[in-house]
Formats: sequence, C-alpha cells, structure tokens
Amino acid sequence: MVRDKTIVLGVTGSIAAYKAVELASKLTQEGARVDVVMTKAAQQFVTPLTFRTITGRPVASEMFDLASEFSIEHVALAERADLVVIAPATANVIAKLAAGIADDVLTCTVLDTKAPVIVAPAMHANMYQNRITQENIARLKERGFVFVGPGYGRLATGEVGPGRLAELDDILGTIRQVLGREGDLAGRRIVVSAGGTQELIDPVRHIGNRSSGKMGYAIAEAARDRGASVVLVSAPTALAPPAGVEVVQVQTALQMRDAVLKASAKADALLMAAAVSDYRPKAAARKKIKKEVETLSLELVRNPDILAEARGDLIRVGFAAESEDVVENARKKLEGKNLDLIVANDITASDSGFGADTNRVIIIDRQGKVESLPLLPKLEVAHRILDKVVALLSG
Ligand code: C5P
Repeated sequence: MVRDKTIVLGVTGSIAAYKAVELASKLTQEGARVDVVMTKAAQQFVTPLTFRTITGRPVASEMFDLASEFSIEHVALAERADLVVIAPATANVIAKLAAGIADDVLTCTVLDTKAPVIVAPAMHANMYQNRITQENIARLKERGFVFVGPGYGRLATGEVGPGRLAELDDILGTIRQVLGREGDLAGRRIVVSAGGTQELIDPVRHIGNRSSGKMGYAIAEAARDRGASVVLVSAPTALAPPAGVEVVQVQTALQMRDAVLKASAKADALLMAAAVSDYRPKAAARKKIKKEVETLSLELVRNPDILAEARGDLIRVGFAAESEDVVENARKKLEGKNLDLIVANDITASDSGFGADTNRVIIIDRQGKVESLPLLPKLEVAHRILDKVVALLSG
C-alpha cells in the first residue's frame, strides 16, 4: 500500500513530535517517499535535520526560505502527495485547517492538495474536549478529513485523559486503509473470524485452544488495505485491534455464531479463520468448582457449525488445521461444509500454524484445484487468499 507513494508528513508543535520521527522512519522503510513539513513550533521539539536524516529527503519548514526546495513549491508538494498525514496535530493547526487559514507551508499544502488528509490529534485533554476543538474536528470530518485517535492515557502534564497521539500502529493502519480505498475489494463487506473460542466450565475456567488469532487478524488487515469494510469477530487473543476494522469481541462459540451470522447478513464474503471449539460443557457451573472429588467428568455437547449455518450465497472460506492427511481431510471439510475455498495447514510444522508469524498453506477450491503456497508471512498468505476471494466475487 505504502511502497512508492508520496506521503507528506506534517509535524506540528506537540511533545509527541518525537513520535513522528519513528513514523517517518517506518514509512520510509516501507518504501514511501516521505516529505516532512514542519511548523515553527514543531522545530522547538525536533529538528528538521532529524527528519532529513531519517527520510533522506529535504524538509520543508520556511514559507519564504529561497534555499529550500519547497519554498516556492508548496503547490508542487500538494500536487504530488498521494496522502497528507498530520501527526501530531495540535488544536491550533486543526483550528486553522477548519477555518481555511493558510499561513505556513503545512496549512498551505493542506488547503492546496486534492490528496486525502489524515489527522492524528495530540494535545492536553481540556483543549481536546473544548467544544471549539470538537466543532473544528466535526467540521473537518464532514469535509472528508480522516481522524485517528487521540488515545486515552497519561499526558505530558502527568494527568490522565484523552489527548495522547494515537499509537503508531493505528496511524500506520489508517494510512494503509486510506491509500487502499480504491483497492479491488472497494465497496465489499468482508466478515472475518479469528482466535480460539473459550467454552466456560465455571466462572474462572474454560476449555480453550492454541489459536493465536494472527491469521485472522492478518486477513482483516489485508482486506481493509484492499478497500473492504471489514468486521472482525474475534475470540480472545493477545493482539491489538486493527485500525479501521470493526471488531466484535466474543468469547464462546455460541457468541461467535451470533456475531458472525449478524455481521454476515449484509456481507459479500465470510472467512472463518477462528478455531471454534467443537464442544462446550453442557452447562457452565454458576460457582467455581471445588476440588473435592478424585475424578471429575464434564459432559460436553456439540457446538453448532457456524460456517455451515452462514448464508449460502456468501463466498465462504474455511480453514482446516490438520495434523495428518492434510489435503484429503481439508477436501472432505470443503465438501461437507459446502465451501468455496478451504485453506489447510499442517499444524505439526513449527514455522506454520498456531502462534507463528509465518504460515505454509494449501488452498483448495470447489473444483478441486490444489495450490500449495511456500512458507510466507501471514499477511502475505492473507493477500493470496484474498486474491482468490476477489476472483470469486467478480464471478
Ligand atoms: O473445526 P473444523 O476443522 O471443522 O473447522 C473447519 C472450519 O470450520 C474453520 O474455518 C472453522 O472456523 C469453521 N468452524 C465453524 N464452526 C464450528 C467449527 C468450525 O464455523 N463449530
């Protein structure tokens, strides 16, 4: 999404300006051309030299500095931007943008550009909550500006409240989402499930499994980056919710079934990457079970099959974690659940399957075509699966 894109990174006068250095670094590492534009106040916190060194590109800061490549060229900067990101954005710059004021390189660039603009506010909680700031933000949102954050937490003053710059992963996720808006899944609604369900035994215990959720989260992010609107139904995981994705947190298979069926009502495709427990305790004990007896039996009942219950006209993709006869067992599942695709992997391999960041999968379609992919990062695997979903959606 980011490679070869020109991203104008506006940095304004907040202590969070130091975090923009890492943002510039990550974007540059991912292959973007990052043109940093700094306000005067921003330069009190970080120097242009820092950004110049990180991005390997000139930094625009003075409107009337004839030595600067951009001094008479903010129009060119505005024109060649694929995206403008202002991070951190102070209450002051937000107010100026809302009023159409253009009195420095950054505000001139924003007023001049036709590229999408992402704003990541960072300021003291009172300034953020002030109705003037809120009205300015609402006005900019109405005009199509995309806001990310602010987060809630410890502020530079030591107080706790809203006003922290959004986490870098959220800013990066929003950047990818905005750049991918016209992707091959634009206008599509995709439901993804992830994680391992937990079936309650009593108020403190459950039956679980080793699913980390990484494959499902990667699919949700990849679909977002290709323009889809994504609902991610997630059983408990240790992963941060991806930016720009609607996340529905659930615990049990029955909760996942309700959430998936509800979200799928208007969807084009359902990808069930979650490891859904096949059984649940017949009834969860209301109180913690005491260790009073030597042996204890749990009566388990079958959980409903979510994929099999989903609408037949959806593109449905299942996952099969197998420890033997991978292709044969996966094919049986594809037929049994009447799926469009099944993604199978051998969970006995240490570099693939549960918990790993990489996966080696085999994709089987309805016609019986078997495609074995090499070991790849889960995000890349996600894109390969989505390539097939795109083809199926376009008939
Ligand atoms: O557990 P099983 O191997 O049958 O899972 C295959 C596929 O079916 C997976 O995509 C899983 O998410 C889905 N599944 C489901 N509902 C269940 C069990 C599995 O949708 N109760």
